[in-house]
Parts: sequence; C-alpha cells; structure tokens
Amino acid sequence: MPTALITGGTVGIGHAFAKALAERGYDLVLASRDEAGLQHVAAALRTTYGIEVEIIPTDLAVRADVLALAARLEDPERPIDLLVNNAGFAVHQSLLVKDFSVHERAIDVMCLALLILGGAAARAMKARGEGAILNVTSSSAVITTGNYSAVKAWATVYTEALANELRGTGVRVMGLMPGWVKTEFHTRGGVKAHNLPDFVWIDVDQLVAGALRDLARGKVLSVPTRRWAFAVTVGHIMPRVTSRWLSRALTKSRDE
Ligand SMILES: NC(=O)c1ccc[n+]([C@@H]2O[C@H](COP(=O)([O-])OP(=O)(O)OC[C@H]3O[C@@H](n4cnc5c(N)ncnc54)[C@H](OP(=O)(O)O)[C@@H]3O)[C@@H](O)[C@H]2O)c1
Repeated sequence: MPTALITGGTVGIGHAFAKALAERGYDLVLASRDEAGLQHVAAALRTTYGIEVEIIPTDLAVRADVLALAARLEDPERPIDLLVNNAGFAVHQSLLVKDFSVHERAIDVMCLALLILGGAAARAMKARGEGAILNVTSSSAVITTGNYSAVKAWATVYTEALANELRGTGVRVMGLMPGWVKTEFHTRGGVKAHNLPDFVWIDVDQLVAGALRDLARGKVLSVPTRRWAFAVTVGHIMPRVTSRWLSRALTKSRDE
C-alpha cells in the first residue's frame, strides 16, 4: 500500500485529504500539534477504511520537530509516496506590530517547514525515482493581503522551483491554490468571512478531489473549480496597481 504523510491532517483541508487518500487505499502518517485530535482521527480512519495510521505530534514552528519529521520522510525502511504540506493558518495582522511572533511563526510553519520537509521528501523520492509532493499554498499568493499573501507567494514560487529541479526524476510536485474553503481557518485566525457570498466558497471535498485529479495529470499549479481558476488567472494578469487596490479593499472589508 502507498503511504502519504499529511501535515495538519486532523481538521479542515488536511482532514479531507486524509479521508480521500484513505479511500484510495493509502496508509497515512499524520502530523500536527493536537495529540488527542491525532489519536481520535487516526482511530476513526483505521475503523472506517481499514488502513494503517501513524501519528507524529509535531509543532512545525519548532525546528527540532520539523527535523524529526524530515528524518521520518527520509527513512528508507518506511518510504513515503506522497507528502502533503498542508498545515497553516491565517495571518491577519498589521506588518507594523512590534511583537512579530505571529509573522515569525507563519514563516516557520508555511515557508521553512515546506523547505525542510520538501527537501527531505525530494531526496528520498528522487533516489527511488518516484513520489509526489503537494504543497497547499493559496489564491492569496496572487494578491497582496499582508504577510499571509507574502508567505503563500513564497510557497507557490518555491513549489514551482522544486518542480523544475525535480523535472524528469519521476517525482511530481504540485502547488494547490485554494480560494475560500469553510474550515476552522477563518475563526482561528480572526478573519471575518461571514459577509462573503455563497458562491465564493469551495466545498472542501470538491477541492481535494480536484487537487488529486490535477496531481495525477501532472499539473504544477492547481486551482480547483472554474470560478477560482478564473479568479487566479485574472490575479496573475492584472496590473500590480489594480492588485494592490483590490487587496486594500479586501483587507478593509475583513476589518469591518
Ligand atoms: N480555508 C481556506 O479558506 C484556505 C484558503 C487558502 C489556503 N488555505 C491553506 O490551507 C491549509 C489548511 O488550512 P485549513 O483551511 O484546513 O485550516 P484549519 O482548519 O485551521 O487547519 C489547519 C491545520 O494546520 C495545523 N497546524 C497549524 N499550525 C501548526 C503548527 N504550528 N504545527 C503543526 N500543525 C499546525 C492544524 O493542526 P493543530 O492546530 O492541531 O496543530 C490544523 O490541522 C493552510 O496552509 C491554509 O493556509 C486555506
């Protein structure tokens, strides 16, 4: 059976990946901070899908935890076929704050952890001549809504660079750029999303099914649903001055 390692696999998009991959016959390794949550989700997945689930309590903002997870990815005795770098959180904070710990954690969890885990997975997979790395970035990468956009833009460019470096090795690399998905993300991050119209929301299972389809097709960047694919294409081609204006309007609407 193939094995997938998912960071943040207990809730939200990561949990939807866990269920979809379990359904497709993957054994799983789940890594996030909430040990009780990991145990609960692992037990449910074992019972429902009859798969093996390993849990690794991990804080991706702690370098030792990230290095331990990287070592698990490179363990030749227990190969990982698919790495889903999913863990992350909303950063809705001014760039002027004196206490920059949230920004620092965002860079640790959504940039540095990707670099370290992606590198470890890439080395192991390249040596075997097969495997896949899926990084969950964001459609925010094409606009300029604070440090979150900056972090996700980094993650998107990093993903494309890794895909370039691994081209022809048998290892696929894909960045998933979701629009708004109903998970704990907005409440946890204090992002007001209640005034958004229904049509902007993507169903989490539809998102994951689209992402796995695109990964199988060999896409490097995936934006599931036509609406969001259109929005991201517009984001890519619009003048930066328009992008900055749109970003100011979006940030303001979340503050109201
Ligand atoms: N929801 C959206 O609208 C949306 C849109 C675009 C992109 N995304 C991206 O999608 C990914 C998943 O978000 P989501 O919507 O599923 O949010 P979520 O429901 O809040 O889940 C976030 C997951 O990340 C884990 N996590 C957060 N900080 C961590 C840390 N320091 N160490 C280890 N795990 C950590 C959490 O687990 P613990 O708290 O147990 O550690 C949780 O499992 C994120 O990268 C997010 O930026 C989300």
